[in-house]
Amino acid sequence: MTGLFVTFEGGDGVGKSTQAAALEHWLRERGREVVRTREPGGTEVGERIRDIVLHHRGHIDPRAEALLYAADRAHHVATVVRPALDRDAVVIQDRYLDSSVAYQGAGRVLDAAQVRDLSLWAVNGLLPDLTVLLDLDEASARRRLDAVDKPFDRLEAEQAEFHARVRTAFLDLAAAEPGRFLVVDAALPVDEIAARVREQVAARLV
Ligand code: TYD
Repeated sequence: MTGLFVTFEGGDGVGKSTQAAALEHWLRERGREVVRTREPGGTEVGERIRDIVLHHRGHIDPRAEALLYAADRAHHVATVVRPALDRDAVVIQDRYLDSSVAYQGAGRVLDAAQVRDLSLWAVNGLLPDLTVLLDLDEASARRRLDAVDKPFDRLEAEQAEFHARVRTAFLDLAAAEPGRFLVVDAALPVDEIAARVREQVAARLV
């Protein structure tokens, strides 16, 4: 495989899509093929799973939730991500398996190693070349979400302690794999964050 796989992670409302769009623009200007995608979703099957995990009214068992995200991921990687990497494209993806470890592991309190292994099985071991973690304290993240006039989905509607656990889990994941992760303070100006991301991507493109 010759392309580059870049994922954006972080809590809800930290600016992942803004940064993904900025990176896509920069790479396209440099003549690279870019596939910008997201999980959950990114395929027709994935969009249906997304609808269940984000909008189902009522309880979903945590293990069932973890399996739904993993099923979405398996199909997405097999049909979109790997084919794109095989033809030398840069894949820019909003959320990947670190989200499962943080949300289903630390958030729903499932065993983090098992959740990670489940996802790794689903994707046949594919890890990103670079994972950008946009880190923001919970209160600021909530303020950003509240500023958007859109109803909360199932995970956004969770309590503050849930989101605090998710944030800590992301930071622990980054500390465990410093070579893969770039941690950026999401409170920095958008352009400053974009510049740091570009620097890391450029270093991996050579
Ligand atoms: P996202 O698309 O980032 O939400 P939004 O469009 O509202 O920014 O992600 C949807 C939600 O799914 C988000 O709250 C995090 C959650 N999620 C998990 O719990 N596990 C996962 O594996 C993934 C990919 C997302």
